[in-house]
Amino acid sequence: MINGKSIIIFGPPGAGKGTQSGLISTMTGKPQVSTGDMLRDAVADDSDVGREAKSYMDKGLLVPDEIILQLIKIRLSRDDAKSGLLFDGFPRTIPQAIALETLTDVSMVISLVVEDDEIVSRITGRRTDPETGEIYHLEYKPAPQHIRDRLLQRDDDTEDTVRNRLSTFHKQTAPLSDFYRDKGILFEVNGSGEIKQVSSSIEAIIEAKTGD
Ligand code: AP5
Repeated sequence: MINGKSIIIFGPPGAGKGTQSGLISTMTGKPQVSTGDMLRDAVADDSDVGREAKSYMDKGLLVPDEIILQLIKIRLSRDDAKSGLLFDGFPRTIPQAIALETLTDVSMVISLVVEDDEIVSRITGRRTDPETGEIYHLEYKPAPQHIRDRLLQRDDDTEDTVRNRLSTFHKQTAPLSDFYRDKGILFEVNGSGEIKQVSSSIEAIIEAKTGD
């Protein structure tokens, strides 16, 4: 049953979490909550939280749990969180996952599995449309010609920072796979295929789960 419960899309940086979130939101009606986007908004506002977060993000390190949990609690207090949310990029540490258990029920964790070598080329080629939030890739998902001039590259999408983000993922975030596998709610998807193939695999998992 996925009604009223939250869903997590999980995976290393560049696995395609943001790319696939729209599909999952549409299928389940759960609003997407990306802690990375929330932090980038705080950085753009030049708030205290944003300034502190940026010092970690630029190095490819995780922002402290206290800051993240504060943002999540505020987000969960909004009306549209009552039917559950789609978490993208959260939780990322065992303490975050344990704290989440006290805040909302999680029905499924969709884990995108992609090898490190593929991730570097995905992230260095990523470009985002600031007007729509749509995520593109120079090679794998080229943007329409008429909007190419306005596309932006994220500050933390350099090759050095990506390698640090990957190392952070393996040390602090990957152990969450076992945490959710032990609960019987981890669904692994091969994230290496083409975007449409990955979407089809996710669709099949959600359809099967909705029918439970
Ligand atoms: P965040 O913004 O969450 O970044 P991330 O987890 O590193 O993930 P990305 O957004 O880089 O990748 P994605 O999986 O969404 O991939 P995408 O769909 O864009 O976090 C940024 C930073 O904030 C962290 O480093 C940390 O400092 C901090 N932070 C955030 N949350 C935190 C938390 N909970 N705790 C502590 N700190 C936190 O795809 C990538 C590219 O690949 C795109 O160009 C896309 O077009 C392309 N692509 C996608 N799928 C495919 C495919 N199947 N084939 C080919 N190309 C593909």
